[in-house]
Amino acid sequence: MPRTLPRFFFVTADSLSPFPTITWTDAGTTHTARWRSEAGVAPPKRVVVADDRMTADAAYRQACEGVALMWHGDFHNARQLLQAMARRIDRKAPRKPAASPLDAFNQHRQAQAQRARTLGMVLIPLEADYSIALRRAPDMREACREAYGPADGPSVVSLRELQGLVGAYEWRKKGVEIAALGARIHPHYGVFSPVRGEYVDLVARVPLPSPSVDLAFDIGTGTGVLAALLAKRGIKRIVATDSDPRALACARENIERLGLAADVEVMEADLFPPGRAPLVVCNPPWLPARPSSPIERAVYDPDNRMLRGFLDGLAAHLAPGGEGWLIVSDFAEHLGLRTREALLSMIEAAGLQIVGKEDIKPQHPKASDPNDPLHRARVAEVTSLWRLAAR
Ligand SMILES: C[S@@+](CC[C@H](N)C(=O)[O-])C[C@H]1O[C@@H](n2cnc3c(N)ncnc32)[C@H](O)[C@@H]1O
Repeated sequence: MPRTLPRFFFVTADSLSPFPTITWTDAGTTHTARWRSEAGVAPPKRVVVADDRMTADAAYRQACEGVALMWHGDFHNARQLLQAMARRIDRKAPRKPAASPLDAFNQHRQAQAQRARTLGMVLIPLEADYSIALRRAPDMREACREAYGPADGPSVVSLRELQGLVGAYEWRKKGVEIAALGARIHPHYGVFSPVRGEYVDLVARVPLPSPSVDLAFDIGTGTGVLAALLAKRGIKRIVATDSDPRALACARENIERLGLAADVEVMEADLFPPGRAPLVVCNPPWLPARPSSPIERAVYDPDNRMLRGFLDGLAAHLAPGGEGWLIVSDFAEHLGLRTREALLSMIEAAGLQIVGKEDIKPQHPKASDPNDPLHRARVAEVTSLWRLAAR
């Protein structure tokens, strides 16, 4: 079995390293390399070298015990090993029935986290230019460059993260068709993707506060999809903000590609840009829960931070007679994570009044899967656009 390691692995650990490193021993020699984890997972402490001789049972056992497998075998075999490990996780005895929707949600997230930990134990060494020096390894350099930025030395990453990078790279190339826009939006890695388009349809169909609206703010623009849609609806100038550098780059690219750069300004800001607008739109993350990794920040909004920030700042950023459009589903309510009363009292406490509400039923593929642990909440879910005005 060939065990030739790239030269860069033969370096010593450097406690002054500006990034996390992973250390392991192979045939009596200690190796150290940069550790990459977009989820912010710490480098595994126990690492063994593994190759094609390792059985799925042995790999699964090691991974469950927190031992990472530095893969030196055939790349395709590593992928199959990972699938076999995933099947073993799925075959495990069913969990005890959930006592409540909140219990089901917590159990589901715990199981997801455990699954991610176990499957994250198969590691792939990346060369200095992101190439992979393993047999039958595909060229993932472009996908890595898009997610990590320019290559700056050798590193180690979990195969699972690599697969995520490649999936995102494909989506970015292909784009997501947005019917209401009559165009495709190309999400970048780690940026909230408008795959569930029902909320976009709401923004497309709700009447503008007045036909003469000439300025709108899109708070937390992500891919820029809603800003683009508002431009398409004829609003002359849109200021779209986000605090995430990846979202800002993604929104700028989409706006440019759609030929809307003259109408839409993408700006880094914590929530609002300066000034007031007759229309302020915001689609915050819908679930008040702690993200387990930075890339979950577009889905989970701990303590309703963004939702509350938007509501609290809205009145001060609305032009007279203006409307704030809050897009949020009631999924959190069905899961027991937030009550309707809590949302209404946040609106009230922010000095706002509700001037209208449009609902739409999401077309969620998982909603038709009765085995999905969150099935009941998904079936009941309704997405709303709340039209808010200053009191
Ligand atoms: C659920 S995503 C919505 C993205 C996009 N508007 C859409 O509807 O597809 C929420 C977005 O808000 C951004 N965000 C979170 N906190 C923010 C803040 N304090 N200021 C600006 N943007 C923020 C996130 O980076 C993310 O892109």
